[in-house]
Amino acid sequence: MSAKSLDQIVNLAKRRGFVFPSSEIYGGLASTWDYGPYGVLLKNNIKAAWWKAMVQERDDVVGLDAAILMHPRTWEASGHVDSFTDPLVECKQCHNRFREDKLAKAKDGKLVCPNCGTKDNFTDPKNFNILMKTYLGTIEGEKSEIYLRGETCQGIYVNFKNVLNTSRQKIPFGIAQIGKAFRNEITPGNFIFRTREFEQMEMQYFCNPKSADKLFAEWKETRLNWYKAIGINLQNIHFLPHDKLAHYAKAAEDIEYKTPWGWDEFEGIHNRGDWDLSRHSQFSGKDLSYFDESTGEKFTPYIIETSVGADRATLMALFDAYDEEEIREQEAGSREQDGEKSDEGGSRTVLRFNKSIAPIKVAVMPLLKNKPELVDVAKGIFHDLKTTGLMTEYDESGSIGKRYRRQDEIGTPACVTIDFQTLEDKTVTLRDRDTMEQSRIKIDKIADQI
Ligand code: GAP
Repeated sequence: MSAKSLDQIVNLAKRRGFVFPSSEIYGGLASTWDYGPYGVLLKNNIKAAWWKAMVQERDDVVGLDAAILMHPRTWEASGHVDSFTDPLVECKQCHNRFREDKLAKAKDGKLVCPNCGTKDNFTDPKNFNILMKTYLGTIEGEKSEIYLRGETCQGIYVNFKNVLNTSRQKIPFGIAQIGKAFRNEITPGNFIFRTREFEQMEMQYFCNPKSADKLFAEWKETRLNWYKAIGINLQNIHFLPHDKLAHYAKAAEDIEYKTPWGWDEFEGIHNRGDWDLSRHSQFSGKDLSYFDESTGEKFTPYIIETSVGADRATLMALFDAYDEEEIREQEAGSREQDGEKSDEGGSRTVLRFNKSIAPIKVAVMPLLKNKPELVDVAKGIFHDLKTTGLMTEYDESGSIGKRYRRQDEIGTPACVTIDFQTLEDKTVTLRDRDTMEQSRIKIDKIADQI
C-alpha cells in the first residue's frame, strides 16, 4: 500500500533518520536534503540494484564515472545553453517567482499564485536557463565560468569513442552512469522529488538507427521489470508518452508513479536519434560515427536513453512501502516472552520494503538488556551476522515491542530475539516484519534463513 500523504513520508523520514533538511541548524537551505543513516542505506541499495541490473548482469552495457565539471562547449553542443529553459513568471502581488507551466488553474481557467492566491496577475513568462554556473580557477578576474552538469548523460556521449576503443563492445551496446546533476529549478519541491542538486542513474544505448524503435520498446519492458524486481507495486506505475518532444528526442515516454499529489514522472525513456553524437561531432570536430564491420555500414549511432533520478526512485520506494495497520488481538497477545510483556497491540506504521533494498536486513536484540548472559549471546550473533555481509543492527533499548515497532518503521524484514531458551537450546525467535509471525530457529541457520 502506498502513502496517503507526503507529510506522512516527510515526518517518518525525519523521525527515523532517512532524510533531514540540509544545514538544518542554520535554518535549512530551500529544497535541499541530507540522507541520514537509513536513507543513505536505502538509496545505496537502490543504486546498487540499478547497477546490478543495468551493468553487472548484462553483456552489452559497461559503466562510467565522468566528472561533474565539463568543458563548457559540451553544453553548447547539447543545446542546454540555448534551450535548457523554463518559463519564469513573477506574481505582481507578492513578487514570488514560479514556473508558469506548473501553476494551477482556478475553475475559471485563470492562473493562481500558489503563495498569495491572486489570480492572473503575473509578469509575461521569461525563458530562464536552469543550468547552474560555477567558476574554475583561483585568480580573480581570470576565472572561467563553467557549468555544473545539468544531466549525467553528456559525460557518456563525450566518452563514446574512448569506451568503444577500450572495451570489447560493438554496437549495439550501452554505457551506464550514476552521479549528481544540478539544475536551478524555479520551483523545486515535493520533498526529494524536485531539487536543485540530485542524482541520476542514466544508461545510453548506442545502436543502428534501423533497430532504434525495437530497442526503445525493449528498454521500456526492461525498465518496468526492474521496478518489479525491487518490489514496486506495478499497479502504481504506468507509461506516459510525451505529447511535446524535447529538442533532442524522436520518441519519449515517462514512467509515472501514483504519488499522493497525483501521477508524476520518475523516469524518462527516450529515443534521442543521432542528435547527441552529431552535435558533439560538429562542435568538437571529432568523428563520432561508427563503422559496422559485419555489414559494411557507416552511421552515426542512435541513442536509446533510460534516465531515472536516484532520489525519485528512493521516494518511490518510500511511498510504495509505507503502510499503517491495526494489529489484531491474537497478534497483540502472542508477544509475551519470559515475563516481558510486549506492546504489539494497537496500530503500527511499517515500511514494507523489498528485502533487496531494505536498509537493515536484520535486527538482533537481547530480550532484556540487564541480563549479561543474553547480551553476550546477542552481541556474538550480531557480529557474526555482520561478517556475512548482511546489514545488521543491534538494539537493546526499550521494551521488545517498542523495538519491533522501530524496526517496522525503518522497514527491517527480520528481527532476531535472544531469550532464556536460547541459552538452553541455541535457538532464537525470528520475527517477520510483514506477518509479525514468530518462529524459533537455530542460531547457525539465521543467515541462511534471512
Ligand atoms: N538525460 C535526460 C534527462 O536528464 P530529464 O527528464 O530531464 O531527462 C531524467 O531527467 C530524470 O532525472 C527524471 O525522470 C527524474 O527522475 C530526474 N530528475 C530530473 N530533474 C530532477 C530534479 N530537479 N530533482 C530530482 N530529480 C530530477
